[in-house]
Amino acid sequence: VALSKRLKRFSEYYHNDHSNIWDIGCDHGLLGLSFLNKPSVKQINLVDPSLPVVNNLKDSYITIPRINIIHSKGQDLTIPTPNQNSLFIAGMGGLEIKGILQKLRPQLGKEDRVFISPHRHVLEIREFLKDTDYRLVEEGVLEEDGHYYPYLYLSLNSQFQEISLYGKEMWSGVEGQKYRSYLIGHLSCHKNLASQGYLNHLKSLISPRID
Ligand SMILES: C[S@@+](CC[C@H](N)C(=O)[O-])C[C@H]1O[C@@H](n2cnc3c(N)ncnc32)[C@H](O)[C@@H]1O
Repeated sequence: VALSKRLKRFSEYYHNDHSNIWDIGCDHGLLGLSFLNKPSVKQINLVDPSLPVVNNLKDSYITIPRINIIHSKGQDLTIPTPNQNSLFIAGMGGLEIKGILQKLRPQLGKEDRVFISPHRHVLEIREFLKDTDYRLVEEGVLEEDGHYYPYLYLSLNSQFQEISLYGKEMWSGVEGQKYRSYLIGHLSCHKNLASQGYLNHLKSLISPRID
């Protein structure tokens, strides 16, 4: 199956040394399955709390030894081998992702990486992250079919930068600039203080010229 632009981009955010992939909230499983062609990847964990999702995956993939299908919420997972894991949590709300990051934190090591792409409540999750020891390896946004998908690539290694409330690299590049314009329009009708602060910040950024 051909990957969407979104899942293809996400699948680039993994560490070559990592042998374990965790596709948390995997649904169709396509993101996790895209690692089947990587020889360094020894185990692909497809995780979802939905029984129909898990049963579908088992019908199709149970015979492939490197694939481990787990019926669980991300919050309840056990990660047995720290420092060998690339985790992906995409397509869920920010509050759900926050819960998963909080619960999994004690099981993760400095060499693990967590890629997240929240569909909603992005500001809330940044607010939470900036006061934790999760650090930012990279952040960005991609546009597909008129939708914007912000993402953060995280590590617990203190060599990386602290996570800012509003984001920095997020607003660079063509997609970042378009996302910023979109959000300025979108947040203008939000009256709460947090959104107003975010809006003022976005307006204050200098737009680079696009020639
Ligand atoms: C919209 S799908 C996203 C699928 C895929 N990750 C993607 O980005 O295309 C969301 C999936 O998250 C699962 N989900 C919801 N809450 C979850 C949780 N707490 N932990 C793990 N998965 C969860 C749902 O069952 C659903 O299959």
